[in-house]
Amino acid sequence: MARNQDKAGTATADTRKFYVRSYGCQMNVYDAQRMADTLARDGMTETETPETADLIILNTCHIREKAAEKVYSELGRMRVLKQQAAEQDRRLTIAVAGCVAQAEGAEILRRAPAVDLVVGSQSYHKLPELIAKAVNEPVVETEFPVEDKFDQLAPPTKQAIRARGVSAFVTVQEGCDKFCTFCVVPYTRGAEVSRPLAKIVADVKRLASAGVREITLIGQNVNAYHGEGPDGRPASLAQLLYAVAEVPGVARLRYTTSHPRDMGDDLIAAHRDLAALMPQLHLPVQSGSDRILAAMNRRHTHADYLDVIARLRDACPDIALTSDFIVGFPGETEADFRDTLKLIDAVRYSGAFYFKYSARPGTPAAELEDQISEEEKSERLARLQDAIERDRKAFNDLCRGRTVDVLFEKTGRLSGQIVGRTPYLQTVQVMALENLIGQIAPVTITDVGTNSLFGALASPGNARSEELLEMQQA
Ligand code: SAH
Ligand code: SF4
Ligand code: F3S
Repeated sequence: MARNQDKAGTATADTRKFYVRSYGCQMNVYDAQRMADTLARDGMTETETPETADLIILNTCHIREKAAEKVYSELGRMRVLKQQAAEQDRRLTIAVAGCVAQAEGAEILRRAPAVDLVVGSQSYHKLPELIAKAVNEPVVETEFPVEDKFDQLAPPTKQAIRARGVSAFVTVQEGCDKFCTFCVVPYTRGAEVSRPLAKIVADVKRLASAGVREITLIGQNVNAYHGEGPDGRPASLAQLLYAVAEVPGVARLRYTTSHPRDMGDDLIAAHRDLAALMPQLHLPVQSGSDRILAAMNRRHTHADYLDVIARLRDACPDIALTSDFIVGFPGETEADFRDTLKLIDAVRYSGAFYFKYSARPGTPAAELEDQISEEEKSERLARLQDAIERDRKAFNDLCRGRTVDVLFEKTGRLSGQIVGRTPYLQTVQVMALENLIGQIAPVTITDVGTNSLFGALASPGNARSEELLEMQQA
């Protein structure tokens, strides 16, 4: 009885709406979904427009200065919305979550007084309680609590899973112990923690039973995964991939982001033996110069990296490789930069992300003398971009005329068009019926655009391109 009264008592709260905007990496995308699920369990509904929200959460990224500063310009806009809401006698709560929240804490309240709540990524399970507290006074919660937040975050409903599509992220590992000298992640996300294998498999079963076909296991350092296995001992990422591949309905597996030092033999072998594991890997190298790699504390050389790539290609000849690069790390000379271009020439990536080095407060590299000028960084970035784009185009051109399996994800921009992904993670637009969404079908690639491929449904067979296999081996 008391329970029913409670429910009736929260009827007005049921109509409260929240809006989440995420910046940064896949981890933030995943976290935003967990926050949404937890707020939905608490009776709130999600809205797509900040103007109609009673709660706005900015899920922020601290990785580069530009990303962190964007938060403050966004908060300026949110302050106006808060004033407008107040004029209509409506309370708008503004929360800052994610890595800027973790890194800057109370400083955010000083710079942006309209903020009601600052919440670090390890406290999202406490969101409803923290939001209630923030009604009275601003709240800052940036602790790393001992309890497992994953046990307390609400699982998604079937409806929420379906709305998010046929490809889903699952966090398996969080935090980083690598301490690359340029990077804030070990400070914003804390030490490496791996979730137990059984809990991840349970999450994947829930997703698959609601129609998810592709699972991407995510972690800041995903291949350092060492969660508790079925025998109570630490399991490797390869063991986890095999366990997840057993879940009925799961057709495709991917994982990201990996560190070259943690590409274990069993993980490389999984690229040969595990059919569901897609022939694609994001393996950031950052630089091709041994001197710069050492200064970055990456703890591997140019040659070590090429050796990992050779072993991966031996296990999976058509594997498509992508990377992240930083240009203009302190002390980087033209000769260092040329070593990076040499590495790019040797690997022939299918794509990459590239960034100008950004000095981050509290990181060792920010203290180094010999910071590189903006002009020099821009000039190197343009050259690096040319090299990557050349290889990306060459990789895409190899696919023209070939037939590859495509997992269809959503409708396209043109009517009658649906969009999916190849095993190599390229986007493909195909004229086909919408009922193929959620299914895998062979597609012959007919054309290569700037950002996506175009194709036509083909007859079954030839799931992975034979010619592409040969080209990569050549
Ligand atoms: N955990 C992943 C990536 C973390 S951040 C890894 O280890 O590779 C994503 C990318 O941002 C990095 O790979 C790096 O290329 C870039 N990055 C990180 N810190 C940066 C900085 N201070 N300046 C410029 N780029 C940075
Ligand atoms: Fe940052 Fe390096 Fe850790 Fe990646 S491995 S998150 S770049 S410290
Ligand atoms: Fe950014 Fe934090 Fe991800 S700093 S890249 S959102 S881990």
